[in-house]
Amino acid sequence: MSLSREELQNLRKSYKLGELSEHHCAPTPKFQFEAWFKEALKSEIDEPNAFTLSTINKGFPSARVVLFKGFQEEGPVFYSNYESPKGQQLTTTPFAAATFLWLPLERQVRIEGRVEKVSVSLSDEYFATRPRGSQIGAVASPQGQVVSSREDLEKRFAEIENRYPKGTIIPRPAHWGGFVIVPTVWEFWQGRRNRLHDRVRYSLKDGAWIKERLAP
Ligand SMILES: Cc1cc2nc3c(=O)[nH]c(=O)nc-3n(C[C@H](O)[C@H](O)[C@H](O)COP(=O)(O)O)c2cc1C
Repeated sequence: MSLSREELQNLRKSYKLGELSEHHCAPTPKFQFEAWFKEALKSEIDEPNAFTLSTINKGFPSARVVLFKGFQEEGPVFYSNYESPKGQQLTTTPFAAATFLWLPLERQVRIEGRVEKVSVSLSDEYFATRPRGSQIGAVASPQGQVVSSREDLEKRFAEIENRYPKGTIIPRPAHWGGFVIVPTVWEFWQGRRNRLHDRVRYSLKDGAWIKERLAP
């Protein structure tokens, strides 16, 4: 059955949970993000650390969801396969946008900046904390490549599992590690009535964060 126009038109939500003032936002976007992230954690949002990562693929946009795993200085860190499509895109064009959506709080956060690989030691440290199954998955999966079947993937997983019996350390593969987005722009969005939402943008000017209100 096809989707009727009414079904879409009736999806009209009025946002009314909060407000955001450029005068009351934290002096730095990282502080503001941490305050909102703590609220997202308390609000029982599923995977509040999931965000849409947008990259550039030979001039075209490319987006997918990854997980925020901490800060390095002012920038959010995520982990992935360096040889995956996103990994290759970030190597060629090291710029990205991150979009967090916390609908139960009627909030969105956008971050834009340059992307760098984190240090080998940070990637090693984080890899060592991952559950064993995720470590094996990272070694076994050629992320983004065409595979012949699910069975083929399971076979690769089993081979790696046999190579590293329980109790042995699985070293981080060189093709897997962290990226940090070094932000130049952050935007905090709070939904309001009548689509007159609050938007506060922080942009970096001469090493200092400037806060401005944007029209919704
Ligand atoms: C909730 C969620 C969390 C995810 N977290 C990650 C992640 O932290 N790192 C990652 O490489 N892929 C993650 N993925 C998978 C990516 O969305 C994507 O399928 C994969 O990284 C391949 O992307 P690429 O082909 O553009 O390189 C996640 C997907 C979802 C839905």
